[in-house]
Amino acid sequence: MSTQLSDDIHFIGCFDDKIRSFDIIMHTANGSSYNAYLVKGSEGVAIVDTVKKEFSQDFFKQVESLTDYNSIKYIILNHLEPDHSGALSELLEKAPHAEVLVSSTGVIIFNSLLKDKLEKVKYRFVSTGDSISLGNRNLHFYSTPYLHWPDTMCTYDDLSKTLFSGDVFGCHFCDRRLFNDKVGEFHYSFKYYYDHIMRPFKSYVISALKLLEPLEINIIAPVHGPILRSDPQFYMDLYKKWSHEDYLAKEKYGDKRVNIFYASSYGATKIISEAIFEGIESIEGARAGLYDLEALEKENMIRLLEESDGIAVGSPTINGDAVEPAWILLAQLAYIDTRGKMGIAFGSYGWSGEACRMLEDRLKGLKLRVPMEALRLKMFPNDEELKKAFDYGKEFAEILKGKMIEMTI
Ligand code: FEO
Repeated sequence: MSTQLSDDIHFIGCFDDKIRSFDIIMHTANGSSYNAYLVKGSEGVAIVDTVKKEFSQDFFKQVESLTDYNSIKYIILNHLEPDHSGALSELLEKAPHAEVLVSSTGVIIFNSLLKDKLEKVKYRFVSTGDSISLGNRNLHFYSTPYLHWPDTMCTYDDLSKTLFSGDVFGCHFCDRRLFNDKVGEFHYSFKYYYDHIMRPFKSYVISALKLLEPLEINIIAPVHGPILRSDPQFYMDLYKKWSHEDYLAKEKYGDKRVNIFYASSYGATKIISEAIFEGIESIEGARAGLYDLEALEKENMIRLLEESDGIAVGSPTINGDAVEPAWILLAQLAYIDTRGKMGIAFGSYGWSGEACRMLEDRLKGLKLRVPMEALRLKMFPNDEELKKAFDYGKEFAEILKGKMIEMTI
């Protein structure tokens, strides 16, 4: 039995109360849902998104209770990740006349999804400004790339004023009462989802909100979690607030902000980090922070990384590797937008000293610009080496302030 959102718009999604982690990185203690929708018009039916493959049977049962497959004119895929495209192949077999509509930014992913089946499928790539008609209602497309894949878009029904938003405004929360004014407390999950899925793409969130803001929206229908029919603007405002959130002294004061994170077993890497700190602080308009990784919570790591223009990470080498807290720090870079940030690595070592190079490689792998070779110092630094560390910090701050250098590494 499907649930109706408004006249001729039906929920045909599925509830997954057993799932406990999503995309490996997210915990889902309350499960999740794969929301899909069926929209009826006077001249045909559109399906908006599908479900995870394992839930196809339930999905098709709901479709069949509402329409016959020959009436399905369009299949709209706001997002191509398998939790929403899992029933697509079977749906195309059942509804061979339907035209598939996918964002023009999703060409490569769509081609890879259907591969050799592609030539038998009727499809079209759409972007902002495009729309389709179902007779008495039109569905308009809004390209919202990187929320959270390149292919993502939103679809707006101008009759009911429903925004089918894909992953945007979604959350992993499983409650069959479905609507935000009926389900239990889910706001923690809404924020958790934003932090893990959308936060790395804040600038794209801001662009998407600008695009969607002029629309009159009565209902936000995302692909996970509650349908937001009570005060949808509240959720848009939350996204706006979080995406503009400013933890930063730098925006207020115009400084270049460098945060130095270190782990130190005997204190040598700590001493180096302090000299780097002094070097950075010696440059006007550069502001440094110094943090011992042994006592830093992950959430605070994320906040500090996010506010940094430059990141300096220091670790001793133990058993041929950097120490775990340094790796934990760098793992948090996956949750933020790293574009435009620079990174450097440093550390003390006893005999082999691999840690710095490994950290440096990881910084590069995470798309940070690494303008200087890592600073590796043997054992405790002497005065000359401390001067070297000071100059290293100074040089890094100067580069961040715009000093031109030749990249040799
Ligand atoms: Fe819910 Fe990005 O898939």
